[in-house]
Amino acid sequence: MELLKVSNLTKIYPKHKVAAIDNMDLSIDKGEIFGLVGESGCGKSTLAKSILRLTDVQRGSILYKGDDLLKAAARKMQGIRKEIQIIFQDPYLSLDPRVKIGSALEEVFLIHYNYPGPKRRKKAAELLDMVGLGKSYFNRLPSELSGGEKQRVGIARALATGPEFIICDEPVSSLDISIQAQILNLLMDLQEQKALTYLFISHDLGVVASICDRVAVMQSGRIVEIGLCEEVFRNPQHSYTKKLLDSISLT
Ligand SMILES: Nc1ncnc2c1ncn2[C@@H]1O[C@H](COP(=O)(O)OP(=O)(O)OP(=O)(O)O)[C@@H](O)[C@H]1O
Ligand SMILES: [Mg+2]
Repeated sequence: MELLKVSNLTKIYPKHKVAAIDNMDLSIDKGEIFGLVGESGCGKSTLAKSILRLTDVQRGSILYKGDDLLKAAARKMQGIRKEIQIIFQDPYLSLDPRVKIGSALEEVFLIHYNYPGPKRRKKAAELLDMVGLGKSYFNRLPSELSGGEKQRVGIARALATGPEFIICDEPVSSLDISIQAQILNLLMDLQEQKALTYLFISHDLGVVASICDRVAVMQSGRIVEIGLCEEVFRNPQHSYTKKLLDSISLT
């Protein structure tokens, strides 16, 4: 089943001459891990922001379960916002340094569900367990966490509203190599347990090859190649994909 369908999407930032997203078409099926690769500045995060409606676009449609996110009324969008979440590259930037981890998670349950205090605390504690941190992290400040632990909090927060679709925008790029694998494992476990759909943005083709079902290769706001991961990486058709693959060595 098609979960997300992007059609003719065009985004031009003010004062820019070239489109950050140039008439893009893309569809993602429910339950798949869809990789998006391409060099820095090709428009990957802009696509993520467009889907989440964090930025305006000039043209196109973004259907989520058949509803156009670009046209959805405020109330409908409130519901959809619970279903689509994002995990950012830099967990440092997405956490308020003055707010304890437990409170940061509780806040989501206050904003989206208006749960009373005890229920918020219980839910926040469940999330901490879910991402392998546990209740002892409840009263810690972000500065008292390692990079990997912070990213676990980022994942917990994304899970709070019970989403179906999560955009992972370079979720492990800021982490040490040894920690990357742990976080990827967590993401894979959660995907399986909760039947999540991921749009997995990465410049690390090795990571994409190991976890994604399909992959799209982006260049200058366009998708130049798309297909099953195995096929695209084994037998790339587009010269840009070949160049990307040549620049790394897949094992
Ligand atoms: N807020 C903004 N205002 C103006 N231009 C922007 C803005 N954000 C991104 N851009 C420009 O849009 C283009 C695409 O940027 P984007 O962040 O989507 O790339 P990316 O593929 O995510 O790159 P990276 O791999 O480095 O994260 C770039 O030319 C960038 O300079
Ligand atoms: Mg980016």
